[in-house]
Amino acid sequence: MRSPVRIHAVACLRYETCMDEDPKPADGDDARPSGISRRTLLTTGAASAIVGAGIGVGGALMWPHPRGVTVWPRPDRSGVSPVAGLHLQFGKNAATEVVVSWHTTEAVGNPRVMLGTPASGFGRTAHAETRTYRDAKSGTEVRVNHARLDNLSPDTDYVYAAVHDGASPELGTVRTAPAGRSPLRFTSFGDQSTPNLNRLAGAAFASDNIRSPAAADTTTAIERIGPLFNLVNGDLCYANLAHDRIRTWSDWFENNTRSARYRPWMPAAGNHENELGNGPIGYTAYQTYFALPDAGSDEQFRGLWYAFTAGSVRVITLNNDDVCFQDGGNFYVHGYSGGAQKRWLEAELADARRDPGIDWVVVCMHQTAISTTDRTNGADLGIRQDWLPLFDRYHVDLVVCGHEHHYERAHPVRGTLDTETRTPIPVATRTDVIDSTKGTVHVVIGGGGTSAPSNALFFPQPRCRVLTGVGGFDAAIGHKAPIYVTEDAPWSAFRDRDNPYGFAVFDVDPGRAGGNTSLKATHYAVNGPFGALTVVDQFTLTKPRGG
Ligand SMILES: [Fe+2]
Repeated sequence: MRSPVRIHAVACLRYETCMDEDPKPADGDDARPSGISRRTLLTTGAASAIVGAGIGVGGALMWPHPRGVTVWPRPDRSGVSPVAGLHLQFGKNAATEVVVSWHTTEAVGNPRVMLGTPASGFGRTAHAETRTYRDAKSGTEVRVNHARLDNLSPDTDYVYAAVHDGASPELGTVRTAPAGRSPLRFTSFGDQSTPNLNRLAGAAFASDNIRSPAAADTTTAIERIGPLFNLVNGDLCYANLAHDRIRTWSDWFENNTRSARYRPWMPAAGNHENELGNGPIGYTAYQTYFALPDAGSDEQFRGLWYAFTAGSVRVITLNNDDVCFQDGGNFYVHGYSGGAQKRWLEAELADARRDPGIDWVVVCMHQTAISTTDRTNGADLGIRQDWLPLFDRYHVDLVVCGHEHHYERAHPVRGTLDTETRTPIPVATRTDVIDSTKGTVHVVIGGGGTSAPSNALFFPQPRCRVLTGVGGFDAAIGHKAPIYVTEDAPWSAFRDRDNPYGFAVFDVDPGRAGGNTSLKATHYAVNGPFGALTVVDQFTLTKPRGG
């Protein structure tokens, strides 16, 4: 799905020399006392049509200032790839660093981003770095442009335009995170897929990436909520199942650019980002499309694990295929980092807990340590063995994940039973207000939009199938055969049987010095084609405020 309106013109942007310089840019007509100049009309009309659908504060502030964004039309130059899949990422410090990204399958000239504020217009140009990969299945080369914007001001709205020579600029806005303890809102879901029918099978359109119309409804709903950022808990578009991987990635970005160009969608790589032939561990497509915060890892692991800070929240994102036993991707990569990810995680957790400005440590990952559905992926012992002791030691507050296509959450857990499944131990059973100093709350939010929801597959009483290992390759399933052990699940706190699709909203209240801070969670079901929402579950984590 495309952005609401595109400017069907080549545009020149104030303070920038146009590619085809016109001798009469007419700098003075903004000041006419009456009437609507061609340029004013095009400036506000085009920009409002684009921006108005997606933002709150940033868009609203654009219009009163007469010397803001300036665009005027030229005929399209034929043959130039458009700016496609425009999306944002935060840098390590979300208060000051943003990356603007878009992609083409053709070489383009001078990719760049014009940046400004709603009040002052564009005043700065950031040139983009182009990263490429060639999809092993199709042979198609994808070129992704990443423009880094740094030294931004915290808690500030920016406007930007992404463009390359000969293309129409695509506009977006972004709000930087607050610095220090301030209220903020973020959202989270996984397992989205695409809303597109992307394969012609005989005379009929079909899909081979478990697509669903709900994948569009979720995006509409996220944009209605308007968070500072959205955590994507892995299995983005299921390109590794698709006949045409490139088309599937493109469909995902086209569906989500109507939100991801206004607020960063910060992803975790899931098992369906693992694509046979695309790099030694299969994540080259994912690693090329996204420019994620630098974790100091080797180049081959770039973007697979990372952390960023927004206000008093440190988000730590992991790639669980490294530790999971399940064979869930195009090929088996268990243990691929040789412990590098785990060493980084421990150092990052220790750093977060030393930082006096951090109250909340939130882990975003794909596969889960908890699940109470039958005949699905289940929980993975590898996560319980490798991650949970670190989550305990450093008092991780919240874990969001996906992989299972439903919503459920656990009581706060700390420690595990000495059993073959390492059952997490619940430390409290109150479900509305939770002291997060006592344990870590895990939340499965995997109802992002696929055609294979699992909300109807819950065990009648809470039980958990734990994948404890794999056998030999099973041709019937195309993977190594999983070995399951089923346990009681005393940690289970809430399960949504009724709704296949939804996402969670998290609101940080920093509280006052000497008092408590809180993180309120609301899980919404997405009930309709226009992002209609129903509250399904709410809980509040609370703890003494640090600093
Ligand atoms: Fe998955």
